[in-house]
Amino acid sequence: MLWVNLLRYPTRPFDSLKIIGMTHKVLILPGDGIGPEIMRAAESVIAVLIDRFGLELELERGLTGGAAIDDCGTPLPDSTLSMARSADAILLGAVGGPKWERIERALRPERGLLRLRSELHLFCNLRPATLFEPLAAASTLRPEIVSGLDIMIIRELTGGIYFGEPRGIEIGPNGERIGRNTLVYAEHEISRIARLGFEIAGKRAGRLCSVDKANVLEATELWRDIVTEMGSEFPAIELSHMYVDNAAMQLVRAPKQFDVIVTTNLFGDILSDLASMLTGSIGMLPSASLDIDGKGMFEPVHGSAPDIAGQNIANPLATILSVAMMLRYSLNEPEQADRLDNAVAAVLDQGYRTSDIMSDGMKQVGTSEMAAEIVAALND
Ligand code: IPM
Ligand code: MG
Repeated sequence: MLWVNLLRYPTRPFDSLKIIGMTHKVLILPGDGIGPEIMRAAESVIAVLIDRFGLELELERGLTGGAAIDDCGTPLPDSTLSMARSADAILLGAVGGPKWERIERALRPERGLLRLRSELHLFCNLRPATLFEPLAAASTLRPEIVSGLDIMIIRELTGGIYFGEPRGIEIGPNGERIGRNTLVYAEHEISRIARLGFEIAGKRAGRLCSVDKANVLEATELWRDIVTEMGSEFPAIELSHMYVDNAAMQLVRAPKQFDVIVTTNLFGDILSDLASMLTGSIGMLPSASLDIDGKGMFEPVHGSAPDIAGQNIANPLATILSVAMMLRYSLNEPEQADRLDNAVAAVLDQGYRTSDIMSDGMKQVGTSEMAAEIVAALND
């Protein structure tokens, strides 16, 4: 084994054993659309943490989504899956685009992402909607509604209607087509995400809102029962329940009433897009998808935005903030994470804006320029 380590760490051969434990192996999956350009931006920032601040991190690159379909006919090649399994963390850009919308459903780019989440058991998806104060004016809501906003949305990520069987489109008895999906949750799937909800709320303002549709859907009636039962184990947490339609309304009406939201896969998908606009732009929102041990995949909440791909106008901050989440949650590097979060705050303070968060009097920059400003702030 030793020679492998010597090759991998040529500059520190005598320290190889120690470095094995310390060096983080990160798999980069740029994906499609704006994925490659936002990932280049993230890599330029990671390079500073490595070169200047001693972060021990080794990057590998893999294919997924449409890029993998073009290369080898499948959205999640075995080689990517095995690299993902052996990595300490995964950084993903975005997948999908019109080019692959017409191919067989099972082979579409999104299926690769869903399989990756499922195979790696990344059931806990953290989507913080935090407002950087200089962006209060960029929100479509009035500044006083969003100023100080800090919500953590916890989305169940490997169950529910996204994965339930039976599913598919078939020809029914009278010859018409029938589309079917199944919303199903087993008790253990609900209790493990609910527990994280309570624990995370305990580290924040102590308020947990569980979002369901228990008045109509039995699977979420069970969800509510289990969350309620667990509440007795966490007497210090203020637990509330909300139907998802009301939650959507409340998020726009008075978003600051929320501290932590825990919800199902589909409701979390929808509510996190909604919450992103409170923070100014979906281009600002990072996410972490974690397994029970805290290993994770980190990706911006936004999609591949094929309409603006290759134009150097996409906002790279959601991806850069996802790097910070990776450092904090999976790699146990809180100081490096702080460094990055602070650099983002500083650059926004200095008035640099990509077009999605642009407002009067600010300095508009492109993707690579924004990354260069973050690099400069880190070097300051
Ligand atoms: C997200 C995305 C994905 C999802 C798509 C691309 C499959 O919308 O991460 O929110 O629905 O989970
Ligand atoms: Mg989504």
